[in-house]
Formats: sequence, C-alpha cells, structure tokens
Amino acid sequence: MSRRVGIIGSGIVGQTLANGFIECGYQVTIGTNTAAKRDELRAKTNGKATVGNFEDAAKFGEIVVLATKGAGAEAALTAAGIAHLAGKTVIDTCNPIADAPPVNGVLQYFTSQNESLMERLQKAAPDARFVKAFSCIGNAFMVAPDFDGQKPTMFICGDHEGAKADVRSILEQFGHDVADMGTVEAARAIEPLCILWCIPGFRGGGWNHAFKLLRK
Ligand SMILES: NC(=O)c1ccc[n+]([C@@H]2O[C@H](COP(=O)([O-])OP(=O)(O)OC[C@H]3O[C@@H](n4cnc5c(N)ncnc54)[C@H](OP(=O)(O)O)[C@@H]3O)[C@@H](O)[C@H]2O)c1
Repeated sequence: MSRRVGIIGSGIVGQTLANGFIECGYQVTIGTNTAAKRDELRAKTNGKATVGNFEDAAKFGEIVVLATKGAGAEAALTAAGIAHLAGKTVIDTCNPIADAPPVNGVLQYFTSQNESLMERLQKAAPDARFVKAFSCIGNAFMVAPDFDGQKPTMFICGDHEGAKADVRSILEQFGHDVADMGTVEAARAIEPLCILWCIPGFRGGGWNHAFKLLRK
C-alpha cells in the first residue's frame, strides 16, 4: 500500500484528512495555492505535514486527495499539473455546490442530474484514477467517526478497480463501512447525497448524522 499522500486543498477537509492520514502513519504533503495560508496549515497539521502548493502535493502523492471548492476543482487539477496525476489514485471529495444560496435548506448545484463533477474531472485528467469518497459526510465524521459503535456508510465509485481497492482500504482504516456504487457515472447519485446530508443542518436540526446502508 502506498504511504505517500498529496492533498490538493487547504480547507477543513484537506486539513482533517491530512491529520487522519498522519495518524495512520502516512507521509503527507498538503497544498495551497495561497501563500498566506501556509503557516496556518503547518500549525493545523501540527508541523507533521509538509506544506507546499497544489503541484507539490500532486507530485509528492502516490495517492492524491482533491479537496477544493467544487467550482475550482478543474482549475486546481490544471494548477497541480495533470501529468503528475497519471496512473495515480485520486480521491475526489468535492461537491459541485453553486455560489447561489440554498433554497429552504436545499443546496444548489452547478451540475445537472445526468452528469457529475467527477465525470468532468475524469475527462480532464483521463489517466488519473478518480474515486469519489468522503463527499457525503461532514468533515467532523471523516476520520474515526463515532456513532455508538455503528460505522457510517461511505459511498464510493470510480472506473479503476485497483484505485477503489486503495480507497476501500483507507476508508476501512478511517472507520467507515464502504459501499461501492460502480463506475464514475455513479457520482451523479453520490454527489447529491451532500445536498440531503446538509438539509437537517440548514433547517436547524444539527449536523451530527451520517448515512447508513442497511443490507440483508
Ligand atoms: N466541509 C465539509 O464538511 C465537506 C464535507 C464533504 C465534502 N466537502 C467538499 O470538499 C471540498 C473541500 O471543502 P472544504 O470545506 O475543505 O473547503 P473549500 O472552501 O470548499 O475549498 C478550499 C480549497 O479550494 C481551493 N479553491 C477555492 N477556489 C478555487 C478556485 N477558483 N480554483 C482553484 N482552487 C480553489 C482553495 O485554494 P487555496 O488553498 O489556494 O486557498 C482551497 O484549497 C468541497 O468541494 C466540498 O464540497 C466538504
């Protein structure tokens, strides 16, 4: 299993996953393209992650995490250098949230129902092995989620079976039950789970929940 992870994205998701990977023994480079954020990022990762720009993270990672604002994800890939992602597992956490505000607690997306952000990213970087993951749960529950002994379900998808095996192993280390929904097109169903997940929060019901797929 690869032990070097590059994280493209300096927000709370990038920070949370950086710390999760570090706790699990991975080496991490986290990237921001805003130089003024670098010192804060070093502090938020307790000096244990190397901090660079998006390209540094893409070059460093044997596995790469994309954790940028959805509307900036394609630009972030370009800035990171699409060639650096060839043949690598790329964990796509991004949701295509539009700038327009939620309607009665329902987020608006800039994609339509018969497409997804991850399909756009996979087309933009055809040799990268994208796997959707971490997109349907709040950052507070991405690493070692505690629901009284129940593991939340993390829905994943992607075209490359080896890449999905990498991500399954990481998710299991992080404490999730994994449900593989198939190929990249399944991102059309997984990305909107974020809309559903956010509704209780925006409507005053709190943010302390997660999805669970029941099977028999
Ligand atoms: N927050 C959550 O709990 C949560 C849960 C599930 C999924 N997600 C998804 O995970 C992703 C990251 O979320 P987040 O809350 O950590 O942070 P965020 O504020 O959505 O994204 C911050 C990152 O996006 C980059 N960025 C912003 N605009 C950009 C642009 N135009 N071009 C290129 N890069 C741009 C920033 O670059 P700089 O570093 O240069 O500033 C920064 O690295 C999002 O797509 C979000 O929908 C979030």
